[in-house]
Amino acid sequence: MTEHNVHHPRPLIRAERLRARCRQMGRAIARDYAGQDLLVVPLLGGAFCFVADLVREIPLPGLELHFASASSYGAGTISSGRVQLSALPDCAGRPVLVVDDILDTGRTLEAVCTALTSAGISSLRSCVLLDKPSRRIADISADYVGFTIPDRFVIGYGLDYDGRYRHLPDVCVID
Ligand code: XMP
Repeated sequence: MTEHNVHHPRPLIRAERLRARCRQMGRAIARDYAGQDLLVVPLLGGAFCFVADLVREIPLPGLELHFASASSYGAGTISSGRVQLSALPDCAGRPVLVVDDILDTGRTLEAVCTALTSAGISSLRSCVLLDKPSRRIADISADYVGFTIPDRFVIGYGLDYDGRYRHLPDVCVID
């Protein structure tokens, strides 16, 4: 058996449910931002599948996307507690929606929101596919949440373990 087979991914949320939830969230976001030029800031790489499905369900003509990256994880599943941010877009005066794959300790989203708030935006909301509230350290919650999940390490649909498994269509748990 090769090493990449030892984690035994098991589906937690299947692709059909992910798609259906993206449709619901996209409609809610479109309603909330009707008539506004929304700037969507997805955090790479974990949010790449989620944001691709999500924005195609947000029929706002003025929507723009600017990809950013923030990481708090080194190798494997242990949080380093440090958050590194890439350059942020010029977003002064814009309504901004930050999109991330998972809200875990909350340190990443807290750091991104602090940086965006100091950039003079007109409003800020956050949208995460998954929420693990039991692991929260920062005093933060997301405005749009796809699924609340228990304290399990998840992979697939953009989420990785050491760079692997991002391509799996389902959100899975591993041993
Ligand atoms: P914090 O702790 O800052 O974490 O809220 C947010 C970032 O940590 C990564 N993360 C995970 N990645 N499976 C993953 O593949 C997980 O279960 C998991 N929990 C946290 C992720 O990059 C997220 O953006």
